[in-house]
This record gives sequence, structure tokens and C-alpha cells, in this order.
Amino acid sequence: MADEPGTRPTPLSRRAFLAACAPAAASCARRRAGPPGPEPVPVPLDRLPAGVRVTVSVAGRPVELLRTGTGVTARSLLCTHQGCEVSWSEPEGAYTCPCHEGKFDAEGRPKEGPPPKPLLLLPVRVEGPLVLVGP
Ligand code: FES
Repeated sequence: MADEPGTRPTPLSRRAFLAACAPAAASCARRRAGPPGPEPVPVPLDRLPAGVRVTVSVAGRPVELLRTGTGVTARSLLCTHQGCEVSWSEPEGAYTCPCHEGKFDAEGRPKEGPPPKPLLLLPVRVEGPLVLVGP
């Protein structure tokens, strides 16, 4: 079965990261010089066409970015039941989990099956040409 476009994590290459950071070099330098620990993952805003679900890797985990008219959401694609990776199904209008047939609605709320909690939303903010995902 072929992957649907935009459903696989696409970690930024070093070149893409540097290209994205060039206009905001001072900001990127400050982030690199900051205290150790988890840092936000930068994603170029121009990689996020409005209404298109884009999956990126944050700390090795799949996160869906969705740009709307009001901002950008960052939603973990790990099922809240046992951690399998869910994917958006346009025909079903739901995130579906392949492990135990769990489903979440478009807002990430449990809809069917065993998932006990909504899909996790991550902090996200836009700084110039970048979307920063995570803490
Ligand atoms: S891990 Fe998703 S329904 Fe069980």
C-alpha cells in the first residue's frame, strides 16, 4: 500500500534548517546558545500551505501541522491508547489508528474504539518565516 502524500514524517535536513534560519540567524543563534534540553523544531512557514496536513518529526515522533486561516495547529499523531501512529482519513473524516481501530474526530477527540483521551496538541508559534513546534 502506498503512503498518502504528506502523511510521513519529514525531518528537516541540515541544509533546509540553515536555509530557513538564514533570515532569522540571530534568533536561531540565540536558540542554539540557550539552555540544554528540548528545543522547538523550526519548520519554514512556506512549507505549510493552508489546509494541507503536513507531518513532521518532533523528537522522533510524528506530528501533524495544519495551517488554517487563524493559525497553525501541531497535533501528535500518536494514539492515546497504546501509542500507535494514527493517520488522517479524508473519506472517514477522522484520524484512524491501525492497531485497535480507534478513531478520533477532526479535533482529535476520541470518537470510536479504545482511545481514552484526545490526541495531544503541542505548543506552536510563528516567528517570522518559521513555525516553531514544541516547548
Ligand atoms: S493503539 Fe490506537 S486504538 Fe489502540
